[in-house]
Amino acid sequence: MENHKRIEIGEGEVEKIIEALNRYHGIDFSGYSRASFTRRIQRIADKDANGTFDTLLHRVSENKDYFYKFLKEITVNVTEMFRDPSFFNSVRKNVLPELSRQQSLQIWHAACSTGEEVYSLAVLLHEASLLERSTIRGTDLNPEVLLTAKQGVYPHRNFQEYGQNYERSGGKVSLSEYYEASYGNSIFKSFLKDKMTFSEHNLVTDGSFNKFNLIMCRNVLIYFQKPLQAHVVHLFKNSLVTGGFLCLGSKESLLFSDDRLAFEVVDAKEKIYRKI
Ligand SMILES: C[S@@+](CC[C@H](N)C(=O)[O-])C[C@H]1O[C@@H](n2cnc3c(N)ncnc32)[C@H](O)[C@@H]1O
Repeated sequence: MENHKRIEIGEGEVEKIIEALNRYHGIDFSGYSRASFTRRIQRIADKDANGTFDTLLHRVSENKDYFYKFLKEITVNVTEMFRDPSFFNSVRKNVLPELSRQQSLQIWHAACSTGEEVYSLAVLLHEASLLERSTIRGTDLNPEVLLTAKQGVYPHRNFQEYGQNYERSGGKVSLSEYYEASYGNSIFKSFLKDKMTFSEHNLVTDGSFNKFNLIMCRNVLIYFQKPLQAHVVHLFKNSLVTGGFLCLGSKESLLFSDDRLAFEVVDAKEKIYRKI
């Protein structure tokens, strides 16, 4: 019987992987929280490696297809529509009425993964009669998830839960008004998609590319160490107009950033802030 020896991923192995990802693919993971990063690499090693750590390191450095697979595993892409419905409810009540004073709206979903959050907000904007004047940019580090986001096609089996989330977010019609069902998928209608563009952007190394009225970056900072969280909050501060809104995930906060003083709290529980 074959005897597979487990590859143990410790601090040294993680450093080598981080170095290789930076050197061969230009992606800097050195500021990510080590605990979850190590767990994820260990999981990949347990699944994929029939060989040694050096084989794994070589594959991730030299083999583009393997690298993309690896990237998908280490960047957590889990998302859903109207994730945390009470957050979207607060956006309806506390953010959109303020945004309605503007003639045009620039919106950035940073690290949007496969785009469910972007479509959720587009529904809210439509219901507040703000979609027509909105330009929505979705970005992520991972080009693969952006392909799904662009298509706006999602497995229909998730939509019972998404419909309930939508209702709990204050939705008044049926979520099915916004998509067509086809062969087990739900395809979002083009009037929602028309306002969106998606592109690659790395929060660690890429800069600001516009001034926004609203930036959503939820469930991403949680994977970063505190100095990197502060770097990203600084990027957002510089990318917002005065009076612009910043929305973070429920377990995230501005506390670790010197820039916290540039924001007022709009909803402490839902992590909604406004640049002053
Ligand atoms: C858990 S998902 C969050 C999706 C969505 N915002 C939500 O809350 O449902 C985290 C996303 O962050 C992206 N990500 C991780 N590091 C990033 C970076 N440095 N720059 C841009 N995106 C990054 C991942 O590719 C992943 O799609």
